[in-house]
Amino acid sequence: MDSIRIIGGSRLEGRVPISGAKNAALPILCAALLSDGDHVFRNVPELEDIRTLAELLRQLNQEVEFGGGVFRVKGRAVEAPVAPYELVKKMRASVLVLGPLVARYGEAIVSLPGGCAIGARPIDQHLKGLELMGAKIDLTHGNVHVKVPRGRLTAAEIVFDIPTVTGTENLMCAAALAEGRTTLVNAAREPEVEELARVLNKMGANVVGAGTDMIVIDGVEELDPVDHAIMPDRIEAGTYMVAAAMTHGDVLVDGVTFEHLEAVAAKLRAAGVEVEREDSGVRVARRGPLRAVDVTTAPHPGFPTDMQAQFMVLMCAAEGQSRITETIFENRFMHVPELNRMGADIDIHGRTATITGVPKLQGANVMATDLRASASLIIAGLVAEGETEVRRVYHLDRGYEHIERKLAGLGANIRRVKGSL
Ligand code: EPZ
Repeated sequence: MDSIRIIGGSRLEGRVPISGAKNAALPILCAALLSDGDHVFRNVPELEDIRTLAELLRQLNQEVEFGGGVFRVKGRAVEAPVAPYELVKKMRASVLVLGPLVARYGEAIVSLPGGCAIGARPIDQHLKGLELMGAKIDLTHGNVHVKVPRGRLTAAEIVFDIPTVTGTENLMCAAALAEGRTTLVNAAREPEVEELARVLNKMGANVVGAGTDMIVIDGVEELDPVDHAIMPDRIEAGTYMVAAAMTHGDVLVDGVTFEHLEAVAAKLRAAGVEVEREDSGVRVARRGPLRAVDVTTAPHPGFPTDMQAQFMVLMCAAEGQSRITETIFENRFMHVPELNRMGADIDIHGRTATITGVPKLQGANVMATDLRASASLIIAGLVAEGETEVRRVYHLDRGYEHIERKLAGLGANIRRVKGSL
């Protein structure tokens, strides 16, 4: 397994290009199952999760070519609508094939995504919506078997108990080919949900209201293949914004949509960081001390849970005490023990972490546990005294395209070590 070694102390300066959004690409590539024909998706990030999804689509009889940021799918009829455990366990977002398969073929067998490091992450809301649309659900032998007795889903009014991003995406896809008008109430409002709606409408669907908490979908008989360039990754962008602030840097985070980062920008500004909207992106600079700022994660447009670990590291360098409350996932503080081993001063009480700023962090050997926790350890290494080695960086490779190359391009002293423990 690879690790990443960093010698702390460099200021980050210059321009960093932002890649296509992982959490937009995943549901969009699954939506290709909704129609035959030649789909072309551009600006697709070269990530492990995308390669895993390519493998799953091939197992579903789709012809897939992926290279140079272009992901081509030759959509063909699926012989067996089955997503096996081997692939679902590697990437829980494989559950996103459920809506498209049931919509198109009236049946799907998907291995139940187990929990993951950050929480149980059930899919009850996805299944409740499909049941309301006429599907029968059987949970057997670790799989969820969905079957539509009448062959085609029928529209329904679906009220989510809580906003769920992939639940909203799965049911938007299911409703796109269902008979009648489906309404999703208390829907997720993330920009990635809006992006999926744009793609579905380009394919001939009728989706209205994406980005709000009520989405209306008028089902159609069939959809067409699509050519689409994926939107920029707001979480990757936010990660580099925090890294720039952490290192007293001055960085242009290029190619990101500022509106997608309002909550993150507001908290960075409150902490004393300069965040300026530029023509092609966002410029982040820090010259003075950091102020301690409290954060509570929330569904979009609130502060994103995927930025919680990164912001926590920043608060380790702030003057005073801050409190970060994680309301979305039940176990998303696994970066804390590793940060404390680097000299941070963080206490956890239930879902709230209290961070007391410290003058310095010390480099150490640390272990990545999940995607965003790994990113926070990299950011800590950028300013820690001496060398930090982050191990099991396969977690990072799932969600950050060429992270060490991009950070080295900004002046970081960072390198990947192949195949270490
Ligand atoms: C998406 O996960 C993202 N993944 C996650 O990003 C992100 O952290 C999360 O949304 C929240 O923004 C992708 O888009 C591929 P949810 P998702 O369903 O859809 C509970 C990353 O780092 N829930 O919105 O799985 C759930 O347990 C990843 O890029 C149910 O109880 O998240 C959680 O507490 C990590 N029942 C809350 O809702 C359900 O049926 C929000 O989960 C569905 C969800």
